[in-house]
Order: sequence, then structure tokens, then C-alpha cells
Amino acid sequence: MACHSIALASRKGGCGKSTLALNLAAGLARSEDVVLVDGDPQGTLCHWVDWASAHGLPEVMAAGGDPLEALCRASREHRRVVVDCPPSLDMAITGRILERVDVVLIPILPSPLDLWAGADTVAAVRHARKRNPGLRAWLLLNQMEPGSALSRAMVRALSSLEIPTLGCGVRRRAAYRTAAVEGMSVYQLGARGREAAREMDRISEEALQA
Ligand SMILES: Nc1ncnc2c1ncn2[C@@H]1O[C@H](COP(=O)(O)OP(=O)(O)OP(=O)(O)O)[C@@H](O)[C@H]1O
Ligand SMILES: [Mg+2]
Repeated sequence: MACHSIALASRKGGCGKSTLALNLAAGLARSEDVVLVDGDPQGTLCHWVDWASAHGLPEVMAAGGDPLEALCRASREHRRVVVDCPPSLDMAITGRILERVDVVLIPILPSPLDLWAGADTVAAVRHARKRNPGLRAWLLLNQMEPGSALSRAMVRALSSLEIPTLGCGVRRRAAYRTAAVEGMSVYQLGARGREAAREMDRISEEALQA
């Protein structure tokens, strides 16, 4: 079966790319052959999974290597690839990754500054679609506060970004930080991670539907 690849990308640093890449991959790995490609030159996911090797997290490629090469190899050898794109400054590499994946999720924190920064990433998607016209792209709200409705101005700003927003967002939850500190994914946290794990499952389902 063909490989399906999914990238987490944003020009904005700290919006949750690595956290979501690892936890989405961990969820998919329960039923599929998944590999993570670490596009961060600092090797965030490689470090995470190194600590966590006892906890059944997916394999990670590109520790200090070329993420594009790792993506090509992973796509040949595995059923599913999840790519954590480099932090904000490296949009050249991110752009080339977006030319090679099926789906990109763009995490956005629900604050006006982050929404405006999202526009730059949208431009990178538009550019990548010239070479990869089938690229499916979604904005993904991360660190949403329970009970706080997005202001009308923000909903308007989101809808002006020309890329649809996934129906399910990701709440701000201690479980995501706890899992990182303990070298795990939210799936390995038992009851403490249950709601976060459900959230990851819903996102995979919605974003990866054909
Ligand atoms: N939904 C969430 N709830 C609580 N904390 C979160 C959530 N998502 C991310 N975080 C925390 O926010 C911080 C930044 O997340 P992360 O490192 O995944 O962002 P990033 O986009 O990969 O950053 P960079 O651009 O530096 O690579 C981390 O401390 C992470 O634990
Ligand atoms: Mg990161």
C-alpha cells in the first residue's frame, strides 16, 4: 500500500509541532507501521525517543542528517511517515518537505499574534502546491483553553487564511507536558493521558480521511 505522509509545519516557533508530531505518530503506531522524521536540527524528537526507547514510541529518522533524504527513505520503507518540520527560520527546508507530503497540519495558538504569523505558513503551502497540487492542508488550533470561545475577530481572521481549520482542536493539557517530561506519549500515561489520546485519535481521523 502507498505511504501516506503528514507534516507538522509552522513559521511560528513553539506552536506545538514536535509535541503533536510525536503524539499523533504514537497514536497511529498502535495500528500501523509509522516512522517519525525529525526535521529539527536540534533533534528534539530524537532526544525524546532516545529517553523513551523503553516505551514503544515510533522509530525516528534524521538525527542530525538531512530530513529530506530521511523523508524519501521513510516513504519507501514505511506505511506512514510523520514529519516534524524545522523551527520557524528554516522555511526553505519546510517548503521542500511540503512538496513531498500528502497532508500538512499547521498548529496555531489561539492568539491574534499567532493567527497573523500563520499567514506566512499559508503562503508556503500555496507555493508548495505548485509542485504538489494534491497537498491537503489544515490549520490546527493548539493549546485551546477549556470553555473559552474564540472571539469573533479570531474566527474571522482564521477564515481569512484560505486554509480550512480542523473541526477538532487540541486543548491545553498538562498531559502533553507530563508525557514529554516522562519521555512518553500521552498514550502511555494511562488515565492521565486518556483525554489527550482521544483528541489525537480524532485529529488523525479527521486529517487523514481521503
Ligand atoms: N496542547 C498542549 N497543552 C499543553 N502544553 C503544550 C501543548 N502543546 C504544546 N505544549 C507545550 O508547548 C511547548 C512548545 O511545544 P513544541 O516544542 O511542541 O513546539 P514546536 O512548535 O515544536 O517548537 P519549535 O518551533 O521550537 O520547534 C512545549 O513545552 C510543549 O510541552
Ligand atoms: Mg519543535
